[in-house]
Formats: sequence, structure tokens, C-alpha cells
Amino acid sequence: MFFDTHAHYDSGAFNLDRFEILDSMPEGRVGLIVNPGCDLESSKTALEIAERYGFVYAAVGWHPEDIDKLSEESFAELEKLALHPKCVAIGEIGLDYYWDQEHKDEQKALFRRQIELALRLDKPVIVHDREAHADSMEIVLDYPGLRGVFHCFSGSREMAAELLKRGWYLGFDGPITYKNARRAIEVLEVCPMDRIVIETDSPYLTPVPNRGKRNDSRQLEYVVGKIADVKGLSAEYVEEMTFENGKRLYNIGDVNV
Ligand code: NI
Repeated sequence: MFFDTHAHYDSGAFNLDRFEILDSMPEGRVGLIVNPGCDLESSKTALEIAERYGFVYAAVGWHPEDIDKLSEESFAELEKLALHPKCVAIGEIGLDYYWDQEHKDEQKALFRRQIELALRLDKPVIVHDREAHADSMEIVLDYPGLRGVFHCFSGSREMAAELLKRGWYLGFDGPITYKNARRAIEVLEVCPMDRIVIETDSPYLTPVPNRGKRNDSRQLEYVVGKIADVKGLSAEYVEEMTFENGKRLYNIGDVNV
């Protein structure tokens, strides 16, 4: 069974067939999914989906790209959502200097505020770090008790080593199957098997051979296949290990899948 540790089924890209696709997950060998939120509305929808499907869990959080929608009122509501029994993490949160160079200070303040929320609730975080490696590291290293995952990890081997030393997990997605994936493959080579989690980031980041189409969790076999190739392991072993890693990362107990 596959564990998609990061997929956005609240996205408008699934408006026409969301439930049809989610209904088909067990027969597509997808046993668990975590759906992170990006703002108040998407966090609410993520929890609604998690209430409907036993194998779906949610994370609630405010994505740096959506910072313009933030208000004190909505943040207070988000904090309440984080207490929901199916909320397993705070995410996705972090820094994105690719989309927005203008509000670095605001992004950093929001990131810290949500890390502090995660620590108060004793939950892991799902970090989005796009072209902001140095600042992301500076912030997470300020909180020694913090744990979680760097989603769609795009940093260097050195950065990976720092995070792994501190107990973090690294998320790998469709881009590892792309021809130009040199850096992610280098990280994968040195990342221990017990710290790798697999993700789709659906509807985005569709792996080869379906690149360009909408992504969903049933495409994880291509991510697993690539990891198996790079590590010289069987796909079955990678599938099983990453499933257990995801459960450990999000503190999800044994599930009937
Ligand atoms: Ni995402």
C-alpha cells in the first residue's frame, strides 16, 4: 500500500470528480493520504474530506503564497481547526521566495507563529521551502524540539544532512522522475530509507510518464519505482518502508487498509 503524505484534494482541479477519485484509492493500492491546507478555507475542506474517508487525514496551515488572505480572525479560527482529531500536522507552512520576494519578513513571522502553534499542540510541521533554503533552515533550527517534513525537498546534500541529524523527514515527489532531477537524486542517494516519505502534491508535480496531466495518489508507483532504482531496492520494500515512515511522521497508529 502507498501512503501519499502530501496531496491537495481540496483543490479546484478535483471539483468535478473528487469523490470518484477518492473512492477509487483502495483499489489503486493507496492506503493513506494526508491532505494539507493552504489557508482557512482549504484547511476546512481538508478536514471535511478527512471526516468522510477513514484513510484520509488532514493538516491545517497557512501557505506563504496565500499570506494576502490572512487576518487575525481567520488565524484564530485556524488554530481551532488544528484541534480536530483528524488533524495530524500543521502545514503547509514555510517560505516561498520564488512567488514573493516582497514580503519576506511577513512570511517569516507567519512561519514562526505556526511553528509555535505546532509545538504547543505537539504536532509535526509540513514545510514548504521554495528558493528560501537559508532562511528556512535558520528558522527551523531555532526550535530544537520541532519535527516534521521538508516537503518536495529541493535543498543540497549538506542541508539534508543537517535536517536528518535533527530527526526530520524528507519528502520526494514526481520531479525525481524528471530528466533534470540531478540534485534531488543526489539527496535521495544519501537519505536513509527510514526518513524518506513519498508525496504527489496532487494535482501538481505529475511523474513521468504522465507528466503534464493532473496528478493523483495512484501515480505514486512511479515515485516508488524511481526510489527503488536509485537505492537498488525492490519497489515492494520501498512501498512498505515509506508507508511505515509516513505513519511514524504523522503519529498515525495501525490502520486497516
Ligand atoms: Ni503542497
